[in-house]
Amino acid sequence: ETTPRLPVIWEHFQECTCCSESFIRSDHPIVADIILDKISLDYTLTLMAASGHQAEAAKKATMDKYKGKYILCVEGSVPMGAEGQYCCIGGRSALDILKESAEGAAAIIAWGSCATTGCVQAAKPNPTGATPIDKIITDKPIINVPGCPPIGEVMAGIIVHVVAFGKLPELDNAGRPKAFYSKRVHDSCYRRPYFDAGLFAETFDDENAQKGYCLYKVGCKGPSTYNACGNMKWNGGVSYPIQSGHGCIGCSEKNFWDAGSFYDRD
Ligand code: SF4
Ligand code: SF4
Ligand code: F3S
Repeated sequence: ETTPRLPVIWEHFQECTCCSESFIRSDHPIVADIILDKISLDYTLTLMAASGHQAEAAKKATMDKYKGKYILCVEGSVPMGAEGQYCCIGGRSALDILKESAEGAAAIIAWGSCATTGCVQAAKPNPTGATPIDKIITDKPIINVPGCPPIGEVMAGIIVHVVAFGKLPELDNAGRPKAFYSKRVHDSCYRRPYFDAGLFAETFDDENAQKGYCLYKVGCKGPSTYNACGNMKWNGGVSYPIQSGHGCIGCSEKNFWDAGSFYDRD
């Protein structure tokens, strides 16, 4: 009861904000419990009531008071082209803002494929020079949480882990929490028996698709995608892309936009 809530600064750079949208839909733990009881979300462009100079002052106060203690969350990639001018907030480049807010952070959480691998902005020809966070900040512990977006309960679970244990979760060699990214979507897919039996949908509307057969031949990337979708599902465990009739596009894998993820089996 006397422990202060963990201060968190959440930056938004080149992104679509659906990582935040996913986070606020976390069902277990429910996100209100995290924001009201576990952390002090002192700065986030999308969820805070303050704006302008008032908001920037709140961020500065947190950076000064909790230097070396706050968690920095980053949603979005950082454009390195044109000296960072492609993404500016309040007249400052994302690159400049990131370096400042990372300096006093205890650790960084990179949300989503934008912040971890560059996502759609980094797809060829990557006109802005979109760059993931761990290629820019190299002197801080970074948790990479890929996915476009990541599952809300995964995001919430990582924050709760950091709050509860006071340390980062165990990570793999790509900086991803092993608890959520150690298995392929294929490993927990309920259509896996059809894959093993050689029963495949050949098109999205054929008889085999209607029977719920495996979607591998219509482009499913589950066999090469590491994520928890088959186990945790989305929207509080309701469904996930494959259950909705569409193959996995590998949204948590590096360069999935350029890797033929959309309907290209090769
Ligand atoms: Fe949006 Fe995907 Fe980037 Fe998240 S990773 S901000 S969902 S484009
Ligand atoms: Fe694997 Fe995709 Fe088939 Fe599921 S639908 S069994 S993930 S190939
Ligand atoms: Fe993404 Fe594939 Fe899951 S597309 S949401 S990793 S099923």
